Amino acid sequence: MEFEICESIEQREPDAIIVGIPEGADGCNPRFAAVANPLFASGDLPLKPLETFMVPGKPKIVFIGVSKIGDAESWRRAAATVVRRLKKANTIAFTGGNVRAIVEGALVGSFSVEAYKTTNNKLALERVVFAGGEAQALHQGTIIGESINWARWLINEPSNRKPPREIAKRSAEMAAAAGLTIDVLDERDIRNLKMGALVGVSQGSDEPPRVVVLNHRGNPNSSKILAYVGKGITFDSGGISLKPAEGMEKMKYDMAGGATAMAALRSLALFHAPVNCMAVVPLAENMPGSHAQRPGDVVESMSGKTIEVVNTDAEGRLILADALVYAERLGATHLVDVATLTGAARIALGPFRVGVMGNQQSFIDSFLAAAQRAGEKMWQMPLDDEYRDLIKSTIADLANSGGRLAGMITAAKFLQEFVGETPWIHLDIASTAWNDEEKPYLPKGPSGVALRTLVEFAQGFADA
Ligand code: BES
Ligand code: MN
Ligand code: ZN
Repeated sequence: MEFEICESIEQREPDAIIVGIPEGADGCNPRFAAVANPLFASGDLPLKPLETFMVPGKPKIVFIGVSKIGDAESWRRAAATVVRRLKKANTIAFTGGNVRAIVEGALVGSFSVEAYKTTNNKLALERVVFAGGEAQALHQGTIIGESINWARWLINEPSNRKPPREIAKRSAEMAAAAGLTIDVLDERDIRNLKMGALVGVSQGSDEPPRVVVLNHRGNPNSSKILAYVGKGITFDSGGISLKPAEGMEKMKYDMAGGATAMAALRSLALFHAPVNCMAVVPLAENMPGSHAQRPGDVVESMSGKTIEVVNTDAEGRLILADALVYAERLGATHLVDVATLTGAARIALGPFRVGVMGNQQSFIDSFLAAAQRAGEKMWQMPLDDEYRDLIKSTIADLANSGGRLAGMITAAKFLQEFVGETPWIHLDIASTAWNDEEKPYLPKGPSGVALRTLVEFAQGFADA
């Protein structure tokens, strides 16, 4: 898709001109007054946010309701909604609004989840024209929108088409195109590093594990290195602690954290962000089988700590334990992990907010501020010492499940055991990474949540 700023949009002969109407307004851009005034008089305008009113013609005029605050998120949603409704338009023109947000919204709205339909109703949209704006905004919006869609593309792939080695391959292609360096650990490397927790999870599958490391060194003068550690379970059957059949097909999205961490690095490289950042993504398939680990098995993690695997379905924290330790081994001074970690995240926060936990309040505060600037909803959960009691094991240093009580928090307490004193944040995106209810601006499927916050945070990390 191409974006262009062009004073005279008519020159591009758009199929549709989009006019935003703020909630409760009684008039609009004077250029469209002749069309709009009768509609205000008849009560067809104004519109509620994301409602559209189309006036046929060549070009057709599309009025769309925009929320009163008119923040970036409202323009993102308005653009995505318009793009999803105008299936046949080839060129559309925007007459105002937040250009960067509209570019992001148009890209996110044009993403198709129908990857394997043989009769795919592809959107016709090729060109989006703006009556005014800065080239910089187009550039930034394109990088973010395309990075979100790169993550969604991987997350949407079925698990038979994305075993760990395939994700490593696609990451290498992305890294080469974006200007990132990549290192891929294979099973031998992983065993040599004594990542016993990752090996334990992967051993039930014929597909060997991988660890992908992407690097962006944008600030050689700084000693700070930020690591984004993303959960990369390419399919989570639960293992021997098998999940129920109902809904199991959705467990292809259990690598959303990994895809999002890598997509964030893509953005930072393309932005030439002055920050040192890496993505560390442990990849494995969690399957039952005669080689699978059993409930009650004890594994030794890379840190040396032993873990009793009381539930093989609590596999995400196992692979992250080794990945967090490895990130520190690689020199990370600050850690942020992103994971579809617990069903309990949905119980606690519903599908609306990402759960945020961490071990240093000032670090968490600056992260939450970045989320706010990026327009993504997150919420901090407590990590008091008492919760640690729930993951005690009688035979090993700790157990990988604390049962039903405070499930999102005990998962984070488990991870905390592996980060020591290093500033660390954990994001549980289990309930937000996949959109279950279609929205005007978002189809059912991968959401790409947290990408914008990770990029925003890393950009701020540079100066701090
Ligand atoms: N991948 C799941 C968490 C999940 C659930 C993600 C629903 C997306 C939607 C994770 O590996 C898991 O199975 N967690 C268990 C942990 C429990 C066994 C302690 C859970 O949440 O039930
Ligand atoms: Mn699981
Ligand atoms: Zn999982």
